[in-house]
Amino acid sequence: MQENSNLPTYGKPLYSRSGKQKFSPMSVLELEKKSGKVYIETYGCQMNEYDSGIVASLMKDAEYSSSSDPEDSDIIFLNTCAIRENAHAKIYNRLQSLGYLKKKNPNLVIGVLGCMAQNLGDDLFHQELPLDLVVGPDNYRSLPELIGRIRSGEQSLALTRLSKIETYDEIEPRVVNGIQAFVTIMRGCNNFCTFCVVPYTRGRERSRDPKNIVREVQDLAEKGIRQVTLLGQNVNSYKEQGTDFAGLIRMILDETSIERIRFTSPHPKDFPVHLLKLMAENPRFTPNIHLPLQAGNTRVLEEMKRSYSKEEFLDVVREIRNIVPDVGITTDIIVGFPNETDDEFEDTLAVVREVKFDMAFMFKYSEREGTMAQRKLPDNVPEEVKSARLTKLVDLQTSISHEQNRARIGRTYPILIENISRKSSKELCGRTPCGRMTVFPLPDGKEVSDLIGSTVEVRIQSATSATLKGRILA
Ligand code: 5AD
Ligand code: SF4
Repeated sequence: MQENSNLPTYGKPLYSRSGKQKFSPMSVLELEKKSGKVYIETYGCQMNEYDSGIVASLMKDAEYSSSSDPEDSDIIFLNTCAIRENAHAKIYNRLQSLGYLKKKNPNLVIGVLGCMAQNLGDDLFHQELPLDLVVGPDNYRSLPELIGRIRSGEQSLALTRLSKIETYDEIEPRVVNGIQAFVTIMRGCNNFCTFCVVPYTRGRERSRDPKNIVREVQDLAEKGIRQVTLLGQNVNSYKEQGTDFAGLIRMILDETSIERIRFTSPHPKDFPVHLLKLMAENPRFTPNIHLPLQAGNTRVLEEMKRSYSKEEFLDVVREIRNIVPDVGITTDIIVGFPNETDDEFEDTLAVVREVKFDMAFMFKYSEREGTMAQRKLPDNVPEEVKSARLTKLVDLQTSISHEQNRARIGRTYPILIENISRKSSKELCGRTPCGRMTVFPLPDGKEVSDLIGSTVEVRIQSATSATLKGRILA
């Protein structure tokens, strides 16, 4: 599926500082003559990791080779995130630090891809950064052509049209290493939570063909991958050709030999009982759910446009725990959303105490360009208040994570061995089905390479707030 102007897209047309708006394909011959080495640096979420694989694949098809060293590259792409304030700051710093390479090699092409590219578009060219190209997440098929144009003298090209159909469905991303892989099943989000930039950077929801997803998962399984994580901004909204998210999981369970299936991220508004039963009944569909709470006060949730109340969220948690035994539940929480009072923040703490999440990602609210909150709600919680709330929340969650992990001492779990532990070459690590990272000694006389990718029974003996520690059962 080649993107062209007859397909449904929206957003800005091509921006070019050199003023040429014509957008004609180069010949393949020209591309080959001008190819080179591409280095890609990825920031942000797992979807960006996956997309970097798509970009690598598209560039390879256009006769470019990949490089793992920015100093030895002809093209550098930063695949960026825009979700929170510090995501932008990181990229500005990184671009500035790449300036010396541009001075050494004036032919080097530097491009910003991903959500920050979509979010800021050609504004990025007005900040004195060493930057040639800005390309949004729906325009990666145009990268080889845009690079060709930069190399023939055009300057500062930005392409940030959003597409209603682009899913890169038939492109196989070039990232297979280790024993686990990501598979994007849908892109975009229609929820428009008022704090969130994603619907503006990733566009509307669109799902991939279930048959292609199944084929991709089976290909990965045949290449030795043991676990796939299904990705989407809103995975439980998956719908394509009459197949819903649960239907897709069933197809993957029935038609592939993949050992473990995980997914992220769902929205709490849509957790049908049949999906939870499927999880409860199939050990390959791991009992691990990331359920973003965002806030524990109903007024704040309404202002965030989350479409559930505190009570409804608690009901979903209850239902999940009733149906899926030993399920791991993790979450995302924002503190200091506009107008959040001390009492409302206390409600968040109360929900955290009640649910006892296994783990949480916790953030201070930061205003994002283009969102409803930025337009309608002043960012009026002082920075010191946000910081104090975050510290309080992190302290509470850390003690709960510890308590949840301690409750697993004495239990035995099938652990899929992922790697050597980061702290010691004599220890291995992997996750429980419920998602907890577990570390255990390499048994005497065994080679690490023989064990990675296998599933072993591990008895848990101790726990910190972040990790379980145990021993392989003989
Ligand atoms: N400020 C702070 N946190 C945010 N998130 C998304 N947008 C913002 C924002 N503007 C958090 C949410 C989301 C996670 C990926 O990032 O908690 O679930
Ligand atoms: Fe953002 Fe809300 Fe969509 Fe999640 S559901 S990606 S928070 S708009």
